[in-house]
Amino acid sequence: MENKVTINIVDDIARIEINRPEALNALNRSIVDELDELFDQIKDNNDVRLLIIGGTKNFAAGADIKQMVDCTATEAGKFLFSGTFNKLESLEIPTIAVIDGYALGGGFELALACDLRLASIEAKIGFPETGIGIMPGAGGTVRLPKLIGEGKAKELIFLGTILTGEEAEKIGMVNKAVPAEELKEEAERWAAKLIKKAPCGLAAAKRMVADADKLDKKSAIELEAERWAALFNTDDQKEGMKAHLEKRKPVYLGR
Ligand code: CAA
Repeated sequence: MENKVTINIVDDIARIEINRPEALNALNRSIVDELDELFDQIKDNNDVRLLIIGGTKNFAAGADIKQMVDCTATEAGKFLFSGTFNKLESLEIPTIAVIDGYALGGGFELALACDLRLASIEAKIGFPETGIGIMPGAGGTVRLPKLIGEGKAKELIFLGTILTGEEAEKIGMVNKAVPAEELKEEAERWAAKLIKKAPCGLAAAKRMVADADKLDKKSAIELEAERWAALFNTDDQKEGMKAHLEKRKPVYLGR
């Protein structure tokens, strides 16, 4: 591995940065292997309650075209990042992508596998794949339509339109866009708010949103009610409601 990915865990928040500036953080196999290992570590670390990815000059300008150009179909299948991005999406904790500069192709797909996306107003986000003979292949054609609707997603994917962060915010492709110099501060503001919430409630909400997608409406609402009631078996629920009634800040243990 090339050690191009760093992780920093402070006060229960993990921050991951990709550091390959010479290639605008293009994702090669080694970087994705590093990410894969880190997602496993985070999954096994009960002390981590939030993950922030990004914050560097460029989020990631896509999968490494130089590594892919001569791939056979079998090799391309092995090169692909879907397994790792699925791992990211299924982490129990909230995840935030912090997007400055380019988030293209596989880079944008990495951000789409996060729960929330913050971007700089000038960020450049999209799927250029059809311009280089392929299509998005690590969740893009699946996650983008769910986020912004099929019609708009098809337009952006077919035409390869790259949006600025500001434009992306208008269609819900990122949650919020701010001037680049305020991006890290804004991410820390979101992190500070999220870290104060009940981990059990957050994890249950995240899981329920994912599961609702696989069920019919009636079954989803029944499952939601079941899981909502089950939260009353947690210390987090008792602490949260007691603290509210006692007009003090809750101290959550995540159980
Ligand atoms: N793969 C490999 N190298 C990349 C790269 C990528 N995706 N994106 C940028 N780089 C490299 C460039 O090759 C260049 O390196 P060299 O100087 O060694 O040639 C360096 O980063 C700087 O890039 P540019 O000189 O091109 O910078 P620019 O400012 O002129 O252009 C850009 C920036 C518009 C992002 C341009 O680099 C570009 O078009 N990159 C490719 C973007 C792309 O098509 N991404 C999708 C890839 S396919 C994919 O991701 C598939 C999938 O679904 C998994």
